[in-house]
Amino acid sequence: MKIIRTVNEMQQTASSLLKDNKTIGFVPTMGFFHEGHIALMEHAKKDTDIVVTSIFVNPLQFGPSEDYEQYPRDEDEDIRHAKNAGVDIVFIPDTQDMYPRKMVINLDITDRVNVLCGRSRPGHFQGVVTVLSKLFHIIQPTKTYFGRKDAQQIAVVDALIEDLNFPIELIALPTVREKDGLAKSSRNVNLHKNEREEAPWIYKALEQGRQLVVDGEKNPDIVVKEVLDTIDNHTSGKIDYVELLSYPELQPISVIEQQVILATAVYFDGARLIDNLLFDKY
Ligand code: PAJ
Repeated sequence: MKIIRTVNEMQQTASSLLKDNKTIGFVPTMGFFHEGHIALMEHAKKDTDIVVTSIFVNPLQFGPSEDYEQYPRDEDEDIRHAKNAGVDIVFIPDTQDMYPRKMVINLDITDRVNVLCGRSRPGHFQGVVTVLSKLFHIIQPTKTYFGRKDAQQIAVVDALIEDLNFPIELIALPTVREKDGLAKSSRNVNLHKNEREEAPWIYKALEQGRQLVVDGEKNPDIVVKEVLDTIDNHTSGKIDYVELLSYPELQPISVIEQQVILATAVYFDGARLIDNLLFDKY
């Protein structure tokens, strides 16, 4: 496995791989790998000739009062995991190389970001599409792999690829969970002990909401209230949002009659956690 640390070398390597007719599978990450990341890499390995994963904690997607500094990092462990997963190239650029000066060009996202995390984290998705546009140009992937844990991110990246004609296929893979249901996240290590014990209620609450729909409920407000109450009653976290929207358009709906996302974000003292379920009407 090769480790590449400069934009230049990565771009040249990718260009020569493409010249040799290799397909490139790309897994963008911010590191501190867990099974969610590994599953994306393993899937890419089965699908493409060369797997590239990037590790870059992208400052542009963190707000001024967010956890950029506290975001967990462990490069040596990540390299070990990537190697075991069959990754061919790990791209670890430094911030100066990615952003040598303040960006002059900014991408404006007009839809899909005025709800969920986009509403509570202004500028976050702009930072995400900026870094991904750069990484897509540098790595020139045939396919790119994302986790449904960040379902709004997928909806936005899907639009990025389509609107700007990136010749890349986006593959979305299911959320990987702990045994108790908690969605795996690099941020889980920052939870306090009692918070970690309460956190599985986020998934349980979403499941309860889905069950209401399975049982025939069509009113999104009733489903949302059930989820809010369950999280509120069982955790010390402060709920940022619980929303039920159409997917992938992320529009409010009054009746559940198409594919929807039921999503929540909860602030604990140690970390802000997100989770979601995607499902159809029943
Ligand atoms: P990061 O949070 O490191 O996530 C990298 C990829 O792993 C994303 O596609 C994310 O959805 C996926 N992932 C995280 N937890 C998962 C889980 N429990 N199950 C399945 N997949 C999971 O998302 C980012 O980094 C950044 O925003 C990035 C796209 C790299 C841009 O900076």
